[in-house]
Amino acid sequence: MAAKTTTLMDKIVSLCRRRGFIFQSSEIYGGLDSCYDYGPLGVELKRNIKEAWWKAMVREHDNIVGLDAAILMHPKVWEASGHVEGFTDPMVDCKQCKRRFRADEIEGDRCPVCGGELTEVRQFNLMFKTHMGPVEEEASVVYLRPETAQGIYVNYLNVLNSTRLKVPFGIAQIGKAFRNEITPRNFIFRTREFEQMEMQFFVKPGTDPDWFEEWRQKRMQWYLDLGIRKEKLRFHQHGEDELAHYAAAAYDIQYEFPFGWRELEGIHNRTDFDLKRHQEYSGKDMRYFDDQTRERYIPYIIETSAGADRTVLTVLSDAYEEEDLGGDVRTVLHFHPKLAPIKVGIFPLVKRDGMPELARKIEQDLRKYWMVFYDEGGAIGRRYRRQDEIGTPYCVTVDSQTLEDRTVTVRERDSMQQERVGIDRLVEYFRERLE
Ligand code: GAP
Repeated sequence: MAAKTTTLMDKIVSLCRRRGFIFQSSEIYGGLDSCYDYGPLGVELKRNIKEAWWKAMVREHDNIVGLDAAILMHPKVWEASGHVEGFTDPMVDCKQCKRRFRADEIEGDRCPVCGGELTEVRQFNLMFKTHMGPVEEEASVVYLRPETAQGIYVNYLNVLNSTRLKVPFGIAQIGKAFRNEITPRNFIFRTREFEQMEMQFFVKPGTDPDWFEEWRQKRMQWYLDLGIRKEKLRFHQHGEDELAHYAAAAYDIQYEFPFGWRELEGIHNRTDFDLKRHQEYSGKDMRYFDDQTRERYIPYIIETSAGADRTVLTVLSDAYEEEDLGGDVRTVLHFHPKLAPIKVGIFPLVKRDGMPELARKIEQDLRKYWMVFYDEGGAIGRRYRRQDEIGTPYCVTVDSQTLEDRTVTVRERDSMQQERVGIDRLVEYFRERLE
């Protein structure tokens, strides 16, 4: 079982590198541990995921707005949030080989690698520190944000005062977060630099359990709507001992990755913890005034917090298939058309008789609407397979019949069925299937 799962991850990592989805960071210098770069196809895939999230969260709700806060924030933010004090993992070092481990991940009191003696457990803060301005002194310390959420909380009054939103309302943000993880692992699953897609929903105290339930269901549905297999998704409810310092209730949405069930997204009832703390530390009144009931209160916050990179890994793992076609193996990524980096491959059957020119013309027409790819190299079967491997849902081939009746062959990735479609109808044909 273990060998098989490793192989699948290895295959995904290898495909990602070979086809330009994901590269190791600074590879020519031997790579930088746990950092990855998104290549030409990976950047499209990730962008499509983020756009799908933004559309579902912001565009489709009249009471949710967007925000893009700075990564560097006032250091007091992280005191108020509890991160300076409590955002730590227990850590031990091996005195002999100097390796570092998360204390809660090892058994016994000897180094699991060399058997050496371990140090006492110390609390290790996961925030990256740097200095603002030219002087490196304690007063100039700033942190790279470990979550995007705080950027939303500190702007809550700005958003309220500059819009006409009323509770309940939400603020959504996509952006980078940084954590100096002790044991990053599993490709892009746990890295030190990653991207979050977070939405904070501000509600009246007392209505929070209902909103929590609503967002929990909606977020699960989002993954299902992207075509992620239902049997690979589940909820995990946090027990008392797992709850973060800010949460009254929390569920993870978990996905069954090739290395097991792991958290993909967290949905938390953060109560009034964050706004109360910011009120205390900043001295600003964080209460909301309800002009209907004339009440003032600090709203409760329901948070949905997803990882963009983890969603990329989920989508890749879920889509990957090696299909046995009777002796021949076809590698295919069954991406939802909405997420596929390239929507249509366009090929001339041969490089003569005006076929390349006609195919180029079709490419230009479709490029106005979608990411397309022109390919005239190699046998047609191989060109199809190259597109299957990167999850392109449709391929269009210009052949000799095209020259007679102006129809092309459209081949669908999953069924491999082909049909003839008039060139004039192509935009409409794909609009029905891709949008
Ligand atoms: N604001 C709440 C918060 O940050 P979290 O459970 O610590 O909650 C939320 O993180 C999501 O961010 C996770 O479910 C995961 O998708 C992503 N995430 C967290 N740490 C990560 C890491 N080191 N690498 C990649 N993604 C990470």
